[in-house]
Amino acid sequence: MRASSLDLRYIAAPMVNQSDLPFRLLVRRYGVTLPYTQMYIADRLLEDREYLEYHLQDLSLASDNPYNRPVVAQLGGNDTDTLVRAGRKIQGLCDAIDLNLGCPQESARDGHYGAYLLPQKDWPLIESIVSAMSKSFTVPVSAKLRLCQPTNKTVDLAQKIEGAGASWITLHARTVSAKRRRQGAANLEEVKRLKECLGVPVISNGNVRSFSDLECNRNFTSANGLMVGETLLGNPCIFAGPTIPDPVDISLEYIYICKEYPGTSLKIVQTHIRHFVEFQCSRRSWFPKFRAALSATNSLDELERLLSFNVERWRGRFPRGYKSDDEQATPAELHSDIGDDPKGTGVLNDSSDFGLALFHPQV
Ligand SMILES: Cc1cc2nc3c(=O)[nH]c(=O)nc-3n(C[C@H](O)[C@H](O)[C@H](O)COP(=O)(O)O)c2cc1C
Repeated sequence: MRASSLDLRYIAAPMVNQSDLPFRLLVRRYGVTLPYTQMYIADRLLEDREYLEYHLQDLSLASDNPYNRPVVAQLGGNDTDTLVRAGRKIQGLCDAIDLNLGCPQESARDGHYGAYLLPQKDWPLIESIVSAMSKSFTVPVSAKLRLCQPTNKTVDLAQKIEGAGASWITLHARTVSAKRRRQGAANLEEVKRLKECLGVPVISNGNVRSFSDLECNRNFTSANGLMVGETLLGNPCIFAGPTIPDPVDISLEYIYICKEYPGTSLKIVQTHIRHFVEFQCSRRSWFPKFRAALSATNSLDELERLLSFNVERWRGRFPRGYKSDDEQATPAELHSDIGDDPKGTGVLNDSSDFGLALFHPQV
């Protein structure tokens, strides 16, 4: 696959333990044109059989599904040979391979990869990694970086990465800070400057919290594409339009995909469900009890029941599909709490107001 045939407009960010196959398929239904996998640690792909097989299964299980591809796989590491050998294990199952130059975590600091390669002394290493990856792989190579310090050095590094063969560059326009990973506004001026200075496409990442932010970001930066992480976790439909999906609808849709393509760990699924519900219902009185019940679930069926029955009841709605006498909610229970309030404004959010098309899978 050539980079020019990839649609870079709407990108789901790489997120450790949250870029699983069912989530990628879900967001593809709602406007994402290109999802990333989470970062794979290059030496673990080579040395840890279970880790390799888990991620190979994640990449290959839905080969029957048109939304399975394209996908960008992301690698983290600092050794050229290791990265090239690791990339060869996955290149047949993805459409591009991205080098992580943004991870701020302690593990990245200790292992000296991700954002800890951004200081100028490591630029020759970055160039040699990107150059070797570009020459060795059958798929295009890209890089995702944070701002260098000082920030005006970012363009210099990006030009070197472009010269080494990267097909596009994503800028998460914040500097590295292990304690304040994603806090503070992203510096979109730097994305704009990068776009002016590079020949390859530039992807803007950071500061998108709502549908309207997408257009503001694109207008301001002129970036070729927009990458969204955290907001997509709460609202997987952000690229589809301004309507926020009903949290139970979207949770159940995600669970059905998990059932169709099993293998994602329950912990990852639970975290997704928490994000979907939290995005709109974190201020509801029942939210703490929902969190406790969520972490006590042991299967997808239990999760489905928690959402369809308990959560719907707590929201003051009729449980879905549970009609037996002992499960039928009393009117008092049904009206024990007001409905969802996405923005904490006191205005109820009735899912019947949402466009139906949004909730019907397109495949
Ligand atoms: C749970 C989580 C895991 C993340 N894991 C990765 C990762 O594996 N690789 C990476 O490059 N960035 C990772 N990030 C950073 C995101 O890709 C993105 O750059 C960052 O969240 C800023 O975008 P946002 O403001 O849209 O969230 C992660 C972010 C989150 C929230």
